[in-house]
Amino acid sequence: MTIALLGCGVVGGGVLEICSSRSDIELRYVLVRREKPELGDKAVFDIDTILNDKSVDTVVEVMGGLSPAFDYVSAAMRAGKNVVTANKHLVAHYYCELTQLAKENGVAFRCTPAVGGGIPWLHNLERVMRLDKVTAFSGIMNGTTNFILDAMHTEGCDFAEVLKLAQELGYAEADPSADIDGLDIQRKCIITANIAFGCCLLEEEVPVFGIRCVTAADIAAAESMNRVCKMLAFGKRTENALSVYVEPSFVPRGELEAAVSTNRNVISFETELTGKESFYGQGAGRYPTAYNAVADCLDIQGGVNRFYTDIIQPAKPDNSAEKHPYYVRFAGNDAWLDELTVAPCGDGVVTGDVSVSEMHAWAAKAKSADPSLFIAGII
Ligand code: HSE
Repeated sequence: MTIALLGCGVVGGGVLEICSSRSDIELRYVLVRREKPELGDKAVFDIDTILNDKSVDTVVEVMGGLSPAFDYVSAAMRAGKNVVTANKHLVAHYYCELTQLAKENGVAFRCTPAVGGGIPWLHNLERVMRLDKVTAFSGIMNGTTNFILDAMHTEGCDFAEVLKLAQELGYAEADPSADIDGLDIQRKCIITANIAFGCCLLEEEVPVFGIRCVTAADIAAAESMNRVCKMLAFGKRTENALSVYVEPSFVPRGELEAAVSTNRNVISFETELTGKESFYGQGAGRYPTAYNAVADCLDIQGGVNRFYTDIIQPAKPDNSAEKHPYYVRFAGNDAWLDELTVAPCGDGVVTGDVSVSEMHAWAAKAKSADPSLFIAGII
């Protein structure tokens, strides 16, 4: 097969390296913004060179962001080229448009590296959906936040210092707010929910609370309950509702997620026939992510010619039936929180059962009174 790479950063460099040792993939072009002499005659600056070359059958987009990635990927599909992307923002934001375009143009659209880095999570989700119904999924889907929380628990590291290290290791997004505010994991959660439940969720409707404000005292609070603080994504389908949300969670020691260290991810699905299956591995970084991008190309070469699902229906998450206790650290006075509190806990309190929708709605407002507010579900 003949491919063109759009972008040549951390992941793109990995794709280039892996492809250079293969005889079954010719990487003909690399679209770059600036001169890169090491690319020789592969470097191109105009997307039209790629679009007009009929010998390019597959475009691998690793430039990130929405623009110009959306225009380039759409144009590639219209030109009859298969698309592989590691860009979760692009896929979550333009899910309906891109899946529709792929269908209309009869091309493959794959994004396995976009969720779980090196874990073939979407590939396995597609595989189980051929004969079973996914009822729920959950897991650690962001390497940077897991790296930070793990270092705070195990080595007492300072938040800012360990975030800097995650950036140096190439785990964090170009703007790491996407990691620490939970947007990166929210996007991965949306892509997973859309595929697993045949829906098309809007980013603004999936509640998310990040770890930007987590402190050593919050980590100590989790430890005092014999739990570990983890950033988790959740999705569940019942007969009447679809629950999808992202929040820090205090997970009991002994549970699978509690044992996941460094930048690793673990993601599980539950199905009607097979029960629970979990997928574990490196969730971020050059080679793991590049590996899944190249593996997607090989799947296309082997005959895969579509997206992971054909079912795409607009839906709205409803998290009102999902209830559990929360740890809340809030510096103001609040009657609703006082009413819910069952015990003090370090710098914060522990509440009784409260619905995810109510807690996230309260937290969104309470942040203006206390910008360093932190909440975590106790599961
Ligand atoms: N910033 C992302 C993470 C990269 O830390 O998981 C992989 O998607």
